[in-house]
Amino acid sequence: MLTVLYALLYYAAFIIFIGGTAYRIWGYWKTPAPAVIPTTPAPITRTGVVWRMFKEVALFESLWKSNKWIWIFAMMFHLSLWLIIVRHIRYFIDPVWTLVVLAQPFGKYAGFFFVLGGLGLLARRMLVSRVNYISAPSDYLMLLMFIGIGLSGLTMTFVSKTDIVGVKAFFLGLMTFNWQPLPTDVMLLTHLALVAIFMIIFPFSKLVHAPGVFFSPTRNMTDTPREKFHPVPWLPPVSEVEFDPPHGAKKKG
Ligand code: HEM
Repeated sequence: MLTVLYALLYYAAFIIFIGGTAYRIWGYWKTPAPAVIPTTPAPITRTGVVWRMFKEVALFESLWKSNKWIWIFAMMFHLSLWLIIVRHIRYFIDPVWTLVVLAQPFGKYAGFFFVLGGLGLLARRMLVSRVNYISAPSDYLMLLMFIGIGLSGLTMTFVSKTDIVGVKAFFLGLMTFNWQPLPTDVMLLTHLALVAIFMIIFPFSKLVHAPGVFFSPTRNMTDTPREKFHPVPWLPPVSEVEFDPPHGAKKKG
């Protein structure tokens, strides 16, 4: 019964996660960004933009400049999430890649930093009055959800072991449509239920900032309004415009 419930839950969660995220990315992709509005100083070449984006995504450059404390907790949270994800790949592939095997000990202890990072970000929402004022219930719930995922995971790893061979068989079974029984200990069921909730809300919540950051016009644009003419599709072509500095451009006739 639980196996069927979780199998259906995970199929639904997977479809919503992938489909919903693709839908959101499609929306960002189709949204015109005609005005040249990079936050300056900004690079003037594409390569420069790639480098700027890399620094933003991998090192949270703008957060570093604005707030060192949040940077520390955000880095702790996101870097450990990566290590955890790499460690978890073992449940979905067989045989397991060498890189994933090598990452196991790092991923195991990253769990502590993940929870610590989450707690730091939660404390910030509760204790910094300026942030507290603009925090909605969903901001707290999402952090609590991640902390819950981390704590239930750590409990399985360090306190009451789950049957990881059974977990792997269940997930490989889901992927090959050959369902296998899911172990039924409470920590695993909690961990998996919270992860499914995470996958379902991801596309419709602020968590979608992960793919969204790549579409941020203030960061992904080159600073070339002087070097290049940037036509706006719904304005008249430049040939029809009369330039009348210092009053700007107006339509001919
Ligand atoms: C947002 C996604 C997830 C996060 C943040 C997360 C986090 C964690 C953490 C921090 C741990 C403890 C450290 C460790 O042993 O790796 C853990 C353990 C565990 N997680 Fe997850 N997890 C996620 C998704 C999943 C999924 C989808 C599965 C199902 C395959 C899963 C199954 C497990 C199991 C079985 C353990 C215990 C490992 C052991 O006993 O050694 N987790 N998780």
